[in-house]
This record gives sequence, structure tokens and C-alpha cells, in this order.
Amino acid sequence: MTRHFLKDTDLTPAEQEEVLNLAARMKAAPYSVQPFAADGAGRKTVAVIFDKTSTRTRVSFAAGIAEMGGNALIINPGEAQIGHKESVEDTAKVLERMVSTIVWRTGAHQGLVDMAANSRVPVINALCDDYHPCQLLADLLTVKEYKGRLTGLTMSYLGDAANNMANSYLLAGVTAGMHVRICGPEGYLPATDIVSAAEARAAETGGSVLITTDPAEALAGADVVATDTWVSMGQEAEKETRLQLFRDYSVDESAMAQAAPDAVVLHCLPAYRGYEISAGVIDGPQSIVWDEAENRLHAQKALMAWLMHHSGLAVVEGLAPVELVQESAQ
Ligand code: CP
Ligand code: NVA
Repeated sequence: MTRHFLKDTDLTPAEQEEVLNLAARMKAAPYSVQPFAADGAGRKTVAVIFDKTSTRTRVSFAAGIAEMGGNALIINPGEAQIGHKESVEDTAKVLERMVSTIVWRTGAHQGLVDMAANSRVPVINALCDDYHPCQLLADLLTVKEYKGRLTGLTMSYLGDAANNMANSYLLAGVTAGMHVRICGPEGYLPATDIVSAAEARAAETGGSVLITTDPAEALAGADVVATDTWVSMGQEAEKETRLQLFRDYSVDESAMAQAAPDAVVLHCLPAYRGYEISAGVIDGPQSIVWDEAENRLHAQKALMAWLMHHSGLAVVEGLAPVELVQESAQ
């Protein structure tokens, strides 16, 4: 069965841990896993499609695919027929015959679902309006490096609590057994179906969910403090309103004073100093954002290798054996 990664809960708690452990192993030995190298006969291609702009995602996927023996085919916004001249379904049916994995940054999550439903190769969500699950793998890997564990830690997110990052912090955090607090103004909190999914996952892992409009409640004693831009891609027209809406939810020095003294700070970047985060915090000693950015590379390499292995399209040593499927044209 082909495995896809469209949202954080597509990995079970045990699978998420396996991917993070593989990421740590591959970070220490960057060329040790080669799912896209075809036994010396050539390189497999991964399609990396962008409907929205990117720096980290683009570079980390391209570098990671190359390090794993493959060829990254980057398709920039507006370059392909997908979405305007050709359906997602037809695009998937063509791509799966030529590439080994499809990575896609897009708007509506449903597009990713439709792509996956028509693809025998793994489909990876490289950010959509609702989730940014690859970012969370990197974030969790980084927190684990600094704190030595994830289970039982409190992770608090402040800001636009209805955006893709808030949803992913919630879902990925509870999957790791964390106590996740999501905080933003009324009307900008996670949707009820996402909160329900997070609560169900938390019940499995011993994690917990707190949704609040009160920054003090969210921040008290937190081990990890996270934020994201107040104006996500596609929301530029609402910029002025949003800068007012979220101004009490900034991760600045007074917010950090309420968290645990050894709290670490995450931001997926790009960051807007003086808005969702102060310069003093993002450039200060508690910030781990540069390691977080680097870990996009390691986490996504592990994810791609793991999905190839569990889809029966490659073998990664150290993972439980999976029967290989007959390859089509990739
Ligand atoms: N954090 C993140 O996804 O950055 P890019 O938009 O630059 O890829
Ligand atoms: N919430 C942001 C994340 C950017 C990586 C956006 O969607 O623009």
C-alpha cells in the first residue's frame, strides 16, 4: 500500500518516532540511505511542485533528494498545467509513471487528497492552507535534540491560531505525547474537527490539548514557545487588519518571561521581527530557529526514505521489512 504524508496524523505515534529516529541517524550519516539511487544504473526523480513561493522547503527538498541519490524536478508557481489547464487527478496519473515521489505545496488540502488517491508513489504535503506537517517533523527533531525528549513537554503556540502551523503544532505535538497549548484571539483558533482529532490522538499518547485566548494561560511554564507569521501566503490583502488583531500575541521578552526559564523558541520562518516575534527573542539565546531550519533537510530526507520503504518502493536498512512492489516506470 502506498503511504502518503498529507497531514501530521498520517503517521501514528510509533511511526512518527521511527521517522524522527531515522532523521537523527541520517543527520549523523547524510549519505547512508539512498532510496532514489537505482543500483548504480541511474537516478530516480522526485517532482517538487510549488503553487506558493518558498525558500527552505525548496532548498531542503532539492538538497535532500540529491543527497539520497535522486534528481529533484522543481516546478515553480505557474510553470505546470496543474489546477488551471489540467485536473489534479490527471496530473497524478501522469506523474506517478515518471517519478518516485510527489512533493506539493498548494492551497486547498483536498488537492493533496485527490493527488494521493490517484498516485501509486508517495505524495507529501509541503504546506497547504491547513497543515505544514514537514515543518513539524523538523521542529520536533530540533526540540528532541535540545531537550532529549518530546513526551511530557509543554509546547505553546501564540499568534494566528487558525493557520497551517497552529494546526500542525497541535496534531504533531500530541502525536509525540506533548501537552500542546494553542493561543490566539477569538475567531482565529483551530477548527473543531482539528481539535477533536488532536484530542483523540492525545488520548492515545498521554498528551493534552489546551485552546485558549489568554497568552498568560498558554505561556505559564512552557518548555517550548512557537509562533508564525500573522499574515500567511494568500492573506496579504488582510495584512493591516491582521497586524492589529494579533498584536497581543507576540512572542517577545515579556512573553518569554512567563515560560520556563530554559524554554526554547521555534519559528518556521520567514519571520517578521517586531510583529509575531521580537528581534531580541528570535536572535537571542533561547531561539533554536536556525537548527530548526537546517532540520528541514534531515527530517524530510528521513520522511521520503521512510515513505519509499513503507510503500514497498525501496529498502531502508534498520526498518521493519516490507514486501517490495513491482515498480512501474519510476
Ligand atoms: N518554513 C518554510 O516552509 O519556509 P519556506 O516557505 O521558505 O519554504
Ligand atoms: N503560515 C505560513 C507558513 C510559511 C512557512 C504561510 O502559510 O504562509
